[in-house]
Amino acid sequence: MKTFYIETWGCQMNDLDSQRLSGSLKLRGLRRVDSELEADMILLNTCSIRDKSEQKVYSHLGRLRELKEERSELKIGVCGCVAQQEGERIIQRAPWVDFVMGPGNVGHLDAVLDREHAVAVDFPEDRRYDSLAIDRTSPTKAWVTIMEGCNKNCTFCIVPMTRGREVSRTFDEILDEVRVAVASGRVEIELLGQTVNAYRCHKSGRDFGALLGAVAEVEGVARLRFMTSHPAEVNDSMIAAMRDHENISRYLHLPVQSGSSRILRRMKRLYTRERYLEIVDRIREAIPEIHFSTDVIVGFPGETEEDFQETLSLIEQIRYGSLFAFKYSPRPGTPSLRIGEPVDDAVASERLNRLFELHEQHKRERLESYRGRVLPVLVEGPSKHDPAMFAGRTDDNWVVNFSGNPDTTLGSMLGVRIESAQHHTLRGEAV
Ligand code: 5AD
Repeated sequence: MKTFYIETWGCQMNDLDSQRLSGSLKLRGLRRVDSELEADMILLNTCSIRDKSEQKVYSHLGRLRELKEERSELKIGVCGCVAQQEGERIIQRAPWVDFVMGPGNVGHLDAVLDREHAVAVDFPEDRRYDSLAIDRTSPTKAWVTIMEGCNKNCTFCIVPMTRGREVSRTFDEILDEVRVAVASGRVEIELLGQTVNAYRCHKSGRDFGALLGAVAEVEGVARLRFMTSHPAEVNDSMIAAMRDHENISRYLHLPVQSGSSRILRRMKRLYTRERYLEIVDRIREAIPEIHFSTDVIVGFPGETEEDFQETLSLIEQIRYGSLFAFKYSPRPGTPSLRIGEPVDDAVASERLNRLFELHEQHKRERLESYRGRVLPVLVEGPSKHDPAMFAGRTDDNWVVNFSGNPDTTLGSMLGVRIESAQHHTLRGEAV
């Protein structure tokens, strides 16, 4: 039997694309292996959001050249956002690559494999999702794509180029996929989209809030999460759905990028600092214990110390439970390449450190606040650090490692008494 290996970089969308690729290859009769050396086909599912992602891919391809020289029947495919960004150039620079396939073509893998040296970097009208061919790796959790692409044009971001314009799936398709996932034991559903809350069913016109409600009501959905929301797309229907359904996680990843309205305008984020704070207030009013998480870019071209101070003060005001921050990284073809003065790298690094230091206190405070409480935890599997313990998640998306009855079933909901807070996680005992 022929074998394949997939290397995956990047976001959950990419992880899910790898599960879809894997599912299609298994349907073709291939077997998945854990090492490139054992594989008849190697797929690199790449990411181009930041840093020198192209270089990382080319250097990986450099290492694969030898394998290809030893075994000419080996097939090498480059998928994902670097594939979309580089296209034909990949085959020119690395002629030992057999095919290049962008994110719009994941559902068309068969057609790509049937062509010689395919470079498939279009966004076919009939983007296909074969829900049944997804090779889901978690026994308790399923990612479900509800929309793809992004119609925002944030000046720093390459995603509109690599994942194309927004396309939403229909309500019915999504609900069917959720039902199938739940029937196979995936009681936790995570809805995915680059701008997940811009979802709109193209048949019925129903919006994201309506979809959240409908998925939450599917029999057997123990927990519902979603990623990633754009602040400008938050509306009352989404907030009401989160407030009214107990099984919708009280966690919201709401990337702010900067606390300075001047920088937000240059980023084309479509909101000001004040507007973002208002949205957060409105959500907190409806869902007081919500765990907010965010993304921040430091050192965007032209960012001054005053701009950065505004970011710090916004973080201080909101006190996020989780925060991901990155130094601005110029991406090919993005408008920000032509904006403002670059910020010195040492200055950006120093800002990044100050930001993490501030956030650390907020995270600590939040984690410490759970000590002594009994929280409902959805059991996901054995703990990574200690296989005698279990790992699960709270309703507001903290990982909890806990000791409990060895017969504990995966996917069940348990009360766990929180004993201590680790760096990013909680520790406790099932009650
Ligand atoms: N430079 C740095 N960070 C970026 N992100 C997106 N594009 C860039 C870039 N060019 C960050 C944003 C986004 C997260 C997924 O990656 O913070 O929310």
